[in-house]
Amino acid sequence: MSDIEIRPVTEAEFGNFTAAISEGFSSDLREVIAERDRRAFPVERTLAAFDGATIVGTFGGLDLTLTVPGEQQIAIEGTTIVTVFPTHRRMGLLRSMMDQHLELAYQRGDALAGLWSSSSDIYGRFGYGIATHSRSLAIEGSQIIFRDSVAVERVRRVSPETVESEIRDVYGRVALRTPGMFARDDLIWRDHVLADDEWKREGSTTHRFVVHDGPKGVDGYAIYRQKASESNDGHPNGTVSIVEVIAESAVGRASLWAYLTRIDGCPNVRVGNAPLVDPLSAMVTQPRRVAVTAVYDALWIRVLDVATALSTRRYETDGSLVFEVLDSFRPESAGIYRLTVEGGIGTCGRSDADANADLRIDVEALGALYLGGGNANHLADAGRVVGSAEALRTLHRMFHTDEQPWCNWVF
Ligand SMILES: CC(C)(COP(=O)(O)OP(=O)(O)OC[C@H]1O[C@@H](n2cnc3c(N)ncnc32)[C@H](O)[C@@H]1OP(=O)(O)O)[C@@H](O)C(=O)NCCC(=O)NCCS
Repeated sequence: MSDIEIRPVTEAEFGNFTAAISEGFSSDLREVIAERDRRAFPVERTLAAFDGATIVGTFGGLDLTLTVPGEQQIAIEGTTIVTVFPTHRRMGLLRSMMDQHLELAYQRGDALAGLWSSSSDIYGRFGYGIATHSRSLAIEGSQIIFRDSVAVERVRRVSPETVESEIRDVYGRVALRTPGMFARDDLIWRDHVLADDEWKREGSTTHRFVVHDGPKGVDGYAIYRQKASESNDGHPNGTVSIVEVIAESAVGRASLWAYLTRIDGCPNVRVGNAPLVDPLSAMVTQPRRVAVTAVYDALWIRVLDVATALSTRRYETDGSLVFEVLDSFRPESAGIYRLTVEGGIGTCGRSDADANADLRIDVEALGALYLGGGNANHLADAGRVVGSAEALRTLHRMFHTDEQPWCNWVF
């Protein structure tokens, strides 16, 4: 470990860096991915572990903008392309790169870092907590009937050439009001969301697009693929795979789902990333036909600057709490803080003079509560928050939000 150097790569080393990322993620180098990485990561946003001249570990930071409760947005460090070669595993390289990565993010002024994790037992030790969950759904499209009370209208197909201009505005509005969603710039739209990579299709079609037109313009859209198939007895048994359904109106949402579940020949509808709470099953007469096939951890949040993070989000309940944050990975963030919420607006600062905190909370648990979807009482049952029953009730009421956070973009 001592002869391993950790530093950003140079321009000349970038080719080796992208090759190392592919190797670390168990795939061959794809030129198109290397070009995207080149656009996404200026060299100063990379970190690599060098064994001599050879890159044996990779790390990257993305400048992202996250919605937090109360329609507020905050800059966040996106932690990504985390790999260590199998030859150098469990020697502490991830730990060392994470240490530098979080310090650099803090120095750059980010109050939060966030990531999607390949495994749920890696990142808690670095202070990341599970802030959003998502669901996978298997919908029996041919079986569901929308209730009479649900208004359903026609939707409109749009072409790949015009889709971006048709859907960006409604996405932006929905993202602004949904904690856990990210603002999208040109790069995110073109290199990620709309990039229609052949190897992701697995026999399905290219992306198809529909929009719903509301009174003031497009108020919802769906991106999906279709795959034709037949049952053994010759009946059409194709599948619609949802890439994204975004809607800001009830009629828009219902109209999109009605369309997606009634495509002749495709009775199976698969959703990989649906919100934890979603009105779809309330809209149909057989909610059991909207089966939840998985619930999984989605966006993990690491609070780097407690005072800024807690002063940025809004709260649905006023109150005041003095709490001690435990942070073994970044002890400089640990200490006693006071959060006061008046009219939903929080003010948080260090309060080390307060010898008696109402609560003790690990920074991982704070990340889990930050976007409003966590449950302080469950964390207390697990010993990850410690305080009196009254303080725990106050914590839960202050941090929990009616709106469930949802993160629909894996980075
Ligand atoms: C995950 C990965 C980056 C870990 O790198 P590493 O250098 O071996 O990790 P470290 O040696 O620094 O380990 C740091 C700590 O995390 C733990 N850890 C690391 N990988 C883990 C894993 N996959 N599962 C559980 N714990 C893990 C280690 O046991 C160690 O714990 P400790 O410090 O509390 O004793 C590496 O295994 C890898 O490249 N995997 C394939 C790509 C991948 O999945 N990347 C993550 C994308 S989100």
